[in-house]
Amino acid sequence: MTPVFLIGYMGSGKSTIGYELSKMMKCSFLDLDLLIEEKVGMSISDMFDQKGEFFFREKERDVLTNYNFSSRSIIATGGGTPCFFGNQNFMNSIGHTIYLKISYHALVNRLKDDKKRPLLYNQKLKLEEFVFKEISERAEYYENSHYVIESDNILISQVQEIINKIR
Ligand code: S3P
Repeated sequence: MTPVFLIGYMGSGKSTIGYELSKMMKCSFLDLDLLIEEKVGMSISDMFDQKGEFFFREKERDVLTNYNFSSRSIIATGGGTPCFFGNQNFMNSIGHTIYLKISYHALVNRLKDDKKRPLLYNQKLKLEEFVFKEISERAEYYENSHYVIESDNILISQVQEIINKIR
């Protein structure tokens, strides 16, 4: 058994699905963003606003590589986690990665009223343009996951099936 990392863009459902799944499968759930907030003692928004994105990315890398993830844990990563410092390869090497791939249109729809994600509210581009640009840039990292689930309505049972296969 190895830890399972859920990968995907903001709004793809990593935290919701991961949490529900961990209850059903009786394993532990961890949200990487929360671990970073605990370690730094600051919210993600404050980190971006006061220290800048690079500071956040360094802390993200630090927590990811130094946390002792139990073999039975499910981890929701941040949308940018796989795209910096070789993090995707690192996660692939210590666990299994599952990309929750939902369409650009569905993401825009889910994110349009979001007020708490700093990358979105600090944005000069229109949401549609920004999401399109980011998804294009990030796709090569996300697609490098062990498993890809492609659907705008990803079912918990689809993720569970993969985890059962792995374990
Ligand atoms: C980010 C996504 C966020 C969080 C940070 C940066 C990104 O996590 O890590 O705001 O770069 O896409 P969620 O994907 O959980 O929103």
